[in-house]
Amino acid sequence: MVEYSGVGVAITGCGSAAPNPTVTNDQLSQVVETSDEWIASRTGIRQRHLSEPSGTLVDLASQAAKSAIDMAGLEPDQIDLILLATSTPDDLFGSACQVQAAIGASQAVAFDLTAACSGFVFGLVTAAQYIRTGAYRNVLLIGADVLSRWVDWSDRRTCVLFGDGAGAVVIQANQSDRLLGFELRSDGTQNRCLNLAYSGESKQLSEDCEIGQGNFQPITMNGQEVYRFAVKRVPEVIEKALFRANVKTDSVDWLLLHQANQRILDAVANRLKIPSEKVISNLAKYGNTSAASIPLALDEAVRDGLVKPGDTIAASGFGAGLTWGAAIFQWGR
Ligand code: ACO
Repeated sequence: MVEYSGVGVAITGCGSAAPNPTVTNDQLSQVVETSDEWIASRTGIRQRHLSEPSGTLVDLASQAAKSAIDMAGLEPDQIDLILLATSTPDDLFGSACQVQAAIGASQAVAFDLTAACSGFVFGLVTAAQYIRTGAYRNVLLIGADVLSRWVDWSDRRTCVLFGDGAGAVVIQANQSDRLLGFELRSDGTQNRCLNLAYSGESKQLSEDCEIGQGNFQPITMNGQEVYRFAVKRVPEVIEKALFRANVKTDSVDWLLLHQANQRILDAVANRLKIPSEKVISNLAKYGNTSAASIPLALDEAVRDGLVKPGDTIAASGFGAGLTWGAAIFQWGR
C-alpha cells in the first residue's frame, strides 16, 4: 500500500451489463462453417451475448454505470467526469454525453476514449491523473462495446470471437493510493494486424474539389500475429507495471486480463508463473467484449465474492492500435 502524499485513487464501485440474447457455438455453426469443438478448444468461448437491432451502446453503458455508482454509494450528480472507453459508439461524435444524460450525472464532463481492447486500462490511468492533480474527485469509467455491429458474420476466423457488453467502475479520490503502478504502450507500425478501418470512395464535389465518402469496414484480424503479440507483450508490460508498483508477482491475488482467448490467458499466467486459480476468466460466457471485458470480469468476480477489499489485482488490456498496458491496483478504499 502506498501512502500518497497528495491525492490517492481508489476503485470503490463496479457494475456490468450484457444484452439478453445469447448465441452458443452450436447456433453459430448454423451461420458459418465451424463447431463448438473448434471454437471452445481454440478460444475457450462457449457463447456470447449479442445486442438486438434496437439495443444501444448507451443503454448498456448506462446500466453498468448505474450499478457502479450505486455500489460506490454516490448519487449520479456527484460524478465529476465520465470516461467512456469504446470503439463502437452510437454516435461517432461520441456517446459519453448521452450516457451522462441517461444516468442524470448533471455535473459531469463526459467524453469518449478509444484504445480498443486496451481502453479500460488506458481509461483507468487517465482517470487517475485527473484525480491525482486534484482536478476531479469522482470519476466514472465505462468500458463498453457492441462489436456485433462491425463483425463480418461470414468470416468464421473473426465472427466466433466477439460479443457485446459493458462494465463500469467508479474511481474516487482517496487518502491511500490504490493504483500502485502502471505501464502503457502503443505500436502503430503493427496497426494492420487488427482493424475496423474507414474506407471511402472519391466523390467529385465540383470541378476543382474532390472528397472521400464511405463507411467503416468490418473487423479484419491476423489471428496468429495478434496471438504472438499478446503472449509476448502482455507478460512484459505486467512485469514492468509490477516493478513500478514495487509488487512481487507472488503477491498478486488476481490476474485480470482482457478476455480475448483462454489460450492467451493461460500462456500469460504461465509466463508469469501465476497459478490458474488466480486467473479471472469469464470469456466462456461472453466471448471477447473488447473495452468491456476487464470491468465486466471484475464486476462478476467482486459480486461473486472472489475479489475482496484489499486484494491486489494485475490487470492488462491489449488489442488494436496496437495498444497494450497494465495496471496494478488494490480493490476498494
Ligand atoms: N471454425 C473452424 N475452423 C476455423 C475457424 C472457425 N471458427 N476459424 C479458422 N478456422 C480454420 C482456418 O480456416 C484454418 O483452416 P486451414 O488451415 O484449412 O486454412 C485453421 O482453422 C487454422 O486457422 P488459424 O487462423 O491458423 O487458427 P489458430 O489456431 O491461429 O486460431 C485464433 C485462430 C483462435 C483466432 C487464434 O489465432 C487466436 O486466438 N488469435 C488471437 C486473436 C485474438 O485474441 N484477438 C483478439 C485480441 S484483440 C482484441 O480483443 C480486439
